[in-house]
Amino acid sequence: MAQKILVTGGTGYIGSHTVVELQNAGYEVVIIDNLSNSNIGVLDGIEAITGKRPVFFEGDCTDMNTLRKCFEENPGINGIINFAASKAVGESVQKPLLYYRNNLNTLMNLLQLMPEFGTKGIVFSSSCTVYGEPDVNPIDETAPIKPATSPYGNTKQISEEIIKDYIKSGAPIKSILLRYFNPIGAHPTAKIGELPLGVPQNLVPYLTQAAAGIRKELTVFGNDYNTPDGSCIRDYIDVVDLAKAHVIAIKRILDKEDTDPVEIFNLGTGRGLSVLELIASFERATGVKVPHKIGDRRAGDIEKIWADPKKANEVLGWTAVVPIDETMKNAWAWQCHVTEK
Ligand code: WQD
Repeated sequence: MAQKILVTGGTGYIGSHTVVELQNAGYEVVIIDNLSNSNIGVLDGIEAITGKRPVFFEGDCTDMNTLRKCFEENPGINGIINFAASKAVGESVQKPLLYYRNNLNTLMNLLQLMPEFGTKGIVFSSSCTVYGEPDVNPIDETAPIKPATSPYGNTKQISEEIIKDYIKSGAPIKSILLRYFNPIGAHPTAKIGELPLGVPQNLVPYLTQAAAGIRKELTVFGNDYNTPDGSCIRDYIDVVDLAKAHVIAIKRILDKEDTDPVEIFNLGTGRGLSVLELIASFERATGVKVPHKIGDRRAGDIEKIWADPKKANEVLGWTAVVPIDETMKNAWAWQCHVTEK
């Protein structure tokens, strides 16, 4: 019988791509989402790609009664992939309690219910933000955790600690913490992708909206950093590559006996790209110009960070494979799909 995976936040950006990969790999998926930052139409996209509509439970994981009801109505959940969280760095500074409440209560509720319902493993979405500004690049999992610079970043650090402490206390579960670098792009079918509400805060959705004429121009936040072209460097990872890593991680937790109860992996390509290089890649891949100007630095930005993904490559047998131009093409196809609607 197929294993059943609860995907919290499964109609969101990374969640929806992961649901597709889980279903393609033969897992039965139950999504719980409160649709606070996504819409129900995503299920149509998932169904169009995979030929299967996942079970959908509308509800908020911060509410224990709701979450319990979801477990009761969907007996036999083997594993959880937890995407349900607030994720805007700037907003977290304005509304810290919202971030601590959403991100931490969701996690603690899930952890508490897992042993009760016999759920064995949880994959947690962490972030390279836990490393702050690295002393060296590429950065591996043994690098020091730096003090968080936003409540959002702090929820990721605290969540990692909560999971470790809970497992240390003897809870009969296992976990894999995945530290994402910068997820971008969309499914190559253009049936699912990122749907930012309002003005995008992240680079790629802003870039594609500027290329589509929805925004006047993209502002490159600073060209006086200590990098070859002066703009900041990140490790941009294709969302489908990222989604596939989750399938490998949950399979490892559920099927492999001899692994450590908590494991941590960086998910990145190992390649740093500057903002200007990313714009060039987009223009090369699509033939579409990105109207842009150089602006001031954005407060709190890290100068450069990229992953050493060796541990994920060797232990998980996972490598990011989608070429950046392909990722940009997919991001553009998705933008065109959204604009046409
Ligand atoms: C990327 C680069 C900007 C917008 C985010 C999260 C972080 C972590 C990783 C999840 C930077 C530049 C951006 C624009 C620009 N994710 N930029 N003009 O800041 O690396 O971090 O992803 O946990 O927590 O915040 O991503 O996409 O905002 O920026 O020049 O209009 O693009 O300065 O160099 P960031 P981003």
